[in-house]
Parts: sequence; structure tokens; C-alpha cells
Amino acid sequence: MMDFPIEAVRGRFPALSLTDKGRRRIYLDNPAGTQVPQAVADAVSRCLLTTNANLGGYFETTVAAQAVVDEAHQAMADFLGAETPEEIIIGANMTTLTYHMSRTLGRTMKPGDEIILTRMDHEGNVSPWLQLAEDLGLVVHWLPFDEKSWQVEEATLAGLLSEKTRLVALNYASNLTGSINRVKALTAIASNAGALVYVDAVQFATHGLIDVKDLGCDFLICSAYKFFGPHMGILWGRRDVIDGLKPYKCRCSSNGLPERFELGTPQIELMAGLTAAVDYFSGLGAAAGEGGSRRRKIAKAFEVSIAYENPLAQRLIDGLSDISGLTIHGITDPKRLAERVPTVSFTVDGIVPETIVRQMNAENIFLWSGHNYAWEIVHQLGIPAEHGVVRIGIAHYNTAAEIDETLESVHRVIAMLRQQRT
Ligand SMILES: Cc1ncc(COP(=O)(O)O)c(C=O)c1O
Repeated sequence: MMDFPIEAVRGRFPALSLTDKGRRRIYLDNPAGTQVPQAVADAVSRCLLTTNANLGGYFETTVAAQAVVDEAHQAMADFLGAETPEEIIIGANMTTLTYHMSRTLGRTMKPGDEIILTRMDHEGNVSPWLQLAEDLGLVVHWLPFDEKSWQVEEATLAGLLSEKTRLVALNYASNLTGSINRVKALTAIASNAGALVYVDAVQFATHGLIDVKDLGCDFLICSAYKFFGPHMGILWGRRDVIDGLKPYKCRCSSNGLPERFELGTPQIELMAGLTAAVDYFSGLGAAAGEGGSRRRKIAKAFEVSIAYENPLAQRLIDGLSDISGLTIHGITDPKRLAERVPTVSFTVDGIVPETIVRQMNAENIFLWSGHNYAWEIVHQLGIPAEHGVVRIGIAHYNTAAEIDETLESVHRVIAMLRQQRT
């Protein structure tokens, strides 16, 4: 295994070397959004400056703009392992795309039909379906996660399915606990019962190779700004499923795939950035020695990235575990590191998370507190939603030195807050 080229990687991200009044920045807010390589910003800028036109015409810039759009769909097909770029629907963000697709799927459902939602999902994969259920009179069944494994268990899902189940909305990796679900096994169970499976891969996409064909699901969604790209969402839909769907759309717009699902004028310049983000991964794979297709290079990039990220996650978990009164809400067993992404959330007895985070933010360590829209998780765990957790989220541009500095800060801030209370 080659060493991860951390210095070269960091050199690609201009934001990593910015300082504020001479103070370095430590970006551990990655689950909420990652920084971008220079190449992504350049691609957005180039598109705006040289290829700026609407689609569908015959002159130079409109033709070039169409090529940008086509390339982005192909890039995401490679990124997700899709059969064809026609299965790639690009839109504003995960939440907007999910609201739209839920309404489209709702046109095929009737009162009394059942849907299954997890207690592990981000609200983006809960609220659209809940409100659809309200509108149509669907029955909602709740799928909790297991508080020992931190995952959704196959047997629990099996117990909720019936011949009336039309859809199961699943979470690939949690934006709060970090745990990864066994999506392939869960999908197989749901599909066997005749349900469609809609997978939220927003958090997973930064940290692992997605293979939609292997997973067997019907829909999978992610957001480019979580994997070093621009602010936009990407929904993959299995061709034989989306081909039969009738989305809400303008009468005169294309009925082709994926245009049928992409409303209005697309974010063409962001699509240019999206392709550059995918190419950033393939460049990483090429640097690690993979000479094959873009898909193979992306796979290699994740292989080296995971091998680098996981020890950082363990270092963070070990350091936090030393603090008395601190509870990590997620997998901590080093043997189960492959079953989580490097997003680590914790609470500390008697201390409001925001007070820790504000203090660390003041030291230019960027991280979040709160429920972070993992609204169901905090409720299942009995954590007050108004407080939530402290969340530290690693990306592959973070370093061991940053983790050590962050741990030192957590120790110091907690000691200080405890002192203040006495
Ligand atoms: C797991 C998960 N799902 C969905 C979303 C919502 O994504 P978007 O902001 O693209 O709507 C997020 C954002 O943090 C997330 O972490």
C-alpha cells in the first residue's frame, strides 16, 4: 500500500492554507461541506467565462454548454457505477431532489400504501416522505437503529415489511453517528418484498466507493459539496424504474432521460465543477498507480483515502475516549472501523455542546454542534434536540497533527468549562 500523498493533496485545496489574523484553520466541519480543489473552482470559472449559454441551440457556446452538461452526467455515472448517464439526475441539492422525486413517486401510490422510514436518516430523507404520507394517507412504519451495533438491522426491517410496502428510505452512512448500514443486504430484503429502495448516500459518498448496480437499490442520492465539489445534488435512478415515472414538469420540456426530471435551466457552471471533482478523485487514483478506466481510478482513490482516513478516525476516537464524562455516540471498536465513516459525535455530561464548539471555533477549529438534521437520531437516543452533539468530521485532507491539536483543544476547553462551573 502506497503512502497517501497528503502534502500533494493539501496543495490542491487553496482554502487549507488560508489564515485568519495569522491563525491557521482546521477544517473539521466536513460532514456539512468540504473544501474544493483549485481545479473545481477553475472549471466553474472557465465555464462561466467561456461557455455561458442556455441549452438547445446551434451556436458555439450553447453547443459547448451542452457538452459540459453531458460530461457531468457521464462523470457521475462513473462515480456511482451507473449503467448509463441517462440514470443521473442533477439538481439543486439532495433535499430538493428528494422532495421532487417523492412527489413523482407519490403519483403511483394510494391511501393505505405503506412506507418505511428510519430513525437514522437525515431529515432530507425523512420529511419529504412524511409529508407525502400526510398528503396521500400512506401508513408510515419507523425503522429504528440498534443502539449496540449503531446500524439498522435486517431482522428489524424484515418485521416491518408487508405486501403493501411501496418504499423503504434508507441511510447509507449517518451524518451524526457515522455508522454505515449494510445497504446491499437491507435492499435485498426490501426488494424481495416488492418495495422500492431510496438510499441517502450524502455522507457515504465522501468516504467510500458507491456501486449502485451492486447495491441493487432503485434510487441513490448524494451531494457534490460533500465530496469536494460545488453545491448541488445528484440523484441516480434505475433506468427501468425512472423510465415509467411521470414527474411534475413543464408540458413542453423534454420527456427524455434524464431531462424529464431536471427542471428549468440547469446549473451548468456547477456541472463543470462537478466533473472536475470526479476527476480530482480519478487523479488521486492515477497517482496511486491505477492506469485503467476513470471508474477504476476512482475506486483506487477511495482505497488509498480510506486507508489514510481510518487511522485518523481511530486516533480521534481514542483521544476522546480518554475524557471522563464524554460519550461518543457511534462505533468506537477499532475492529469495526470499516463500518463507520470518520464522523465522530459526542456529548459531555453537564456541558451544552454549543459552549464547547463556540470555544473551539474561536481557536479556528471549525466544527458543528446541534442535531445537524439527524433529528430522528437525537430523539431515539434521548439527546435534547435543542442541544444535540459536538460533531467532528474528518476528510482525507486532514492530518494527524490537526487531530492532535483538536484533541488538545477538546481536553482544555472541557476542563475550562468544568472549572467555570465549580
Ligand atoms: C446524510 C445527509 N442527507 C441529506 C443531507 C441534505 O443534503 P442537501 O444539503 O444536499 O440537501 C445531508 C446534509 O448534511 C446529509 O448529511
